[in-house]
Order: sequence, then structure tokens, then C-alpha cells
Amino acid sequence: MTDPVYQKCVNPDCSATYAVRDVLFSCRGCGGLLDVCYDWDRLEVSRSLWFFERRWGTAGRDLAARADYSGVWRFRELLPFARIEDIVTVGEGRTTLQQADRLAAALNMKPGHVFLQYEGFNPSGSFKDNGMTAGFTMARMLGRRRVACASTGNTSASMAMFASMAAPAGDPPVQGIVFVGSGKVAYGKLAQALDHGALTLQIDGDFDACMRRVIEISDKLGIYLLNSLNPFRLEGQKTIMYRILEGLDWEIPDWIIVPGGNLGNSSAFGKAFLELAHLGLVRRVPRLAIINAAGANTLYDLFHNRGLRWNGGRIDREAVAAKYREMDAQGQRAHTIASAIEIGRPVNLTKALRSLDVMNGVVRQVDDESILDHKAMVGCYGYSCEPASAASVAGLHLLLDEGVISRDERVVCVLTGHGLKDSDTTVKYHAGIDAKAAKWPDPVTPTGKLSNHPIPVPDDLAAICKAIGEPLAG
Ligand code: F0G
Repeated sequence: MTDPVYQKCVNPDCSATYAVRDVLFSCRGCGGLLDVCYDWDRLEVSRSLWFFERRWGTAGRDLAARADYSGVWRFRELLPFARIEDIVTVGEGRTTLQQADRLAAALNMKPGHVFLQYEGFNPSGSFKDNGMTAGFTMARMLGRRRVACASTGNTSASMAMFASMAAPAGDPPVQGIVFVGSGKVAYGKLAQALDHGALTLQIDGDFDACMRRVIEISDKLGIYLLNSLNPFRLEGQKTIMYRILEGLDWEIPDWIIVPGGNLGNSSAFGKAFLELAHLGLVRRVPRLAIINAAGANTLYDLFHNRGLRWNGGRIDREAVAAKYREMDAQGQRAHTIASAIEIGRPVNLTKALRSLDVMNGVVRQVDDESILDHKAMVGCYGYSCEPASAASVAGLHLLLDEGVISRDERVVCVLTGHGLKDSDTTVKYHAGIDAKAAKWPDPVTPTGKLSNHPIPVPDDLAAICKAIGEPLAG
């Protein structure tokens, strides 16, 4: 009997299948992306989502309890490629859906209509841990001891963290090898890769160059690739959707809004809903909005200006090739303050188009100014996120203004990474100064609409009271 878990090419004209343990990141026949597929009829899946709520778990030694402790593996029946003893977990995915009423009010929406899925709350500070736990679990199943990724920062931080703890005590360590673009990664993220002991290669190029190289080198040297091209990573990222539904008492929101970079998240979200619908666990699917930074808008351009669609899996590859040829001819490189999504050639483009199809999605772009203003807005109403994450809220604002999202719909914005990842950008926005400057200029020159700049005050009681707005009496 064949294995109920296998890998399959997403190109319907190919549909080649591979064993679950085959290590490959594109189809050998046609070069298409691969999905992890399940023969659900032969797997044990509860027919009710309520089932997952009863799991709490502990960080202790009991394997089932440890799996239940993870916000990814407590949904393990929905990503059933691993045995419980294979699971590599750091208690990732214990994130929360926040009802953001003050933010809603600022956007002219009613209480209970805007939610933030705060993935910055993960152990390494971004949503990547959801995928990395699944990728490392597969690496353990395959006995791989060297892993690599190209990264704009968060993937490398997460991979380095997992690598530093993935091997059981006494076993040789797992080596993490990170490819980052020179000068392209926010310091908070670079610091994590260094701290966790990853071999960190600063390639003289951008993310797209790093991606090309890491694919080439992983293949040549037999290193396990942990970018989101790895379909097992996306299995873990599906759980972000499950937790959102759980946070809404299993009601389906009207919209999910997510920033788009390499398009792994958006790909995973569509697959999550395809499967939930197939299993009869949801009756309706939310709409998806993928938000590009205007300076890294490949998907937006292809979707809006060149009519690229999923088209049953038969996507117009020539349109994509033409776009890339044009970018090359014009020396066009991605450039945005939201360094996490500074990506020109998103590797999961095809799967993201499928998600847009399944979730009746839209694509928008937002400029850096809007990203920073909305980051400040999100911060001001309680949640610290990095610039890329705020693209989702900037996208919501835009879609409200356009009337595409109506003010009485329920919307979830995914906040993908923690604000402390890139505090330099935050300080610069609020104070207009380089955070690393030895002495701050006086007066400071705030740069954004919502800048909350520090006020230089002499070490003097009266002056301090005046600055607080309550001059000293007498
Ligand atoms: N938000 C943050 C904070 C990210 O780090 C990334 C991607 C994205 C959004 C975009 O997600 O690629 O699934 O569309 N960061 C990758 C990295 C590319 O290397 O850390 P995506």
C-alpha cells in the first residue's frame, strides 16, 4: 500500500509524485513547486475543529504533552507527516489573536472588527518558528546535520535558534548556515543568527542573489534547505490560520491580510483553507489580501498589470520570465525600508497565486511612508511590530479607503514579526536620528506623521516639570 503522505508537483500538467522522504525542492520533471499531500481518507482526522482546543500541554518529557504545548503540533492531525517522537519543538506558535479595538477606532471601524494575529510572540520573535519547527522535524527524520537558508533576517534567526537546540544532548550539533545580503539585514535579526552560533555568510548581493546561491550550494553539498521552498516549512505555517479560527471561536473572518515577501505565508494560508474545506471543517473561506511593499512589488505588478492568475495551475510562465528579464535589463532591484520583504523574485509565486484563487484574494502595494506610519499606529495602540508586518495594516487602510473592504467586515491582519527586530528604524522614525549616533542632535527632527520624538531636557526640576506640562508652582 502506498504511503498516505507524499509530495506532489503543483503543476497540473505534471503532477509528479515523490516519497515523503525524497529530498528535493522542485519537481525533477518540470521544475514546479512541491506540495506535501495527504490521503486524508486513510489518516485519522477529527471531523470537528473543537477537538484541538482541549489540548494544553507542558514543556516536560512526555512526548504528547510536549507536542500539545506547541501552537503548531497541537494541530498535528492536520500536518500528519511526522511521528510524535520526531518532533523538534521549542514551544513555538503560542501566539494570540488580539482584538484591536483602539486600532479599529483609528481606522473608523467598530469594536470587534479588527484583529491582530501577533506572531512576534514566537520564541525567535517572528512567524518563521511555525515553519521552522516543521522543517527541523523533517531534517531530524532524514538525519540531516547541516541546514541552510537565505534570509532577509527572520528565517535565519529562527533557523539558527532551532539549529542550536535541535540535536539531543550528547549528539553532534546541527550546523546552521545562513546566507544574508550584505548590509540588508536589521541588526536585531543578525544578532540572533550570531548569538545562536550559525555560520553567517554575508553575500555581496541582495536576498535574491542569496536565494540563488543557497539553492545551488545546498544541492551541491547535500545541505538541507530550510527556505520556504521546502514544502514542510509551509505545513507548519498553516497553523497560523488554525489559531486565528480558534481565537474567533471557529468563526470564519471576512479577510486575512498578510505582507508578501517570498510568499510562503500566503501560500501556506491558502493550502490550510483548501484542506479545511476538503475535510468539511469549514463551510466558507475568508478572503486574502497580500500586501507588497511598493519597492518590492513583483506580485502586485504581475497580478495587476500583467494579468497573471493561477488559472488552474497553468500559470503564464512567459509573463513571469518577461518580468524578470525586464527587471534585469533595467537593473531593477527590490528596495524598501521593510527589509524583511525586500524581495524581487518570490520563490513561492505559483502557490501564492493558488491561494489568491482559493481565497478570492486581492494584491496591493503600500509605500514606505505608509508602512512606517502604520507601524507607529499599531505601536501606539498596543503592539510592537517590525515595518514589514505593518504593511498588513497599511493594506487594510488602503482597502478600506478603496471600499474593497467594508467597515462592518471582520478583518485579521497578521503581524509577522516583533518590533524589537528593527528598533533602529523605529527610533529613526520617531526621532529622526540615527540610533547609533553617539550624541543625539538638539532639536530632534521627527520624520513621520505619528512621530513621538524624545524631548531633550536639562537636568533641572523646573525644566522637567515644564516638559511634563505641569510647571512648578511658586
Ligand atoms: N514579515 C516578516 C517579518 C518577514 O520576515 C517576512 C519574510 C515576511 C513578512 C514575508 O513573508 O516570505 O512568507 O511572504 N521574511 C523572510 C526571511 C523572507 O528571510 O526572513 P513571506
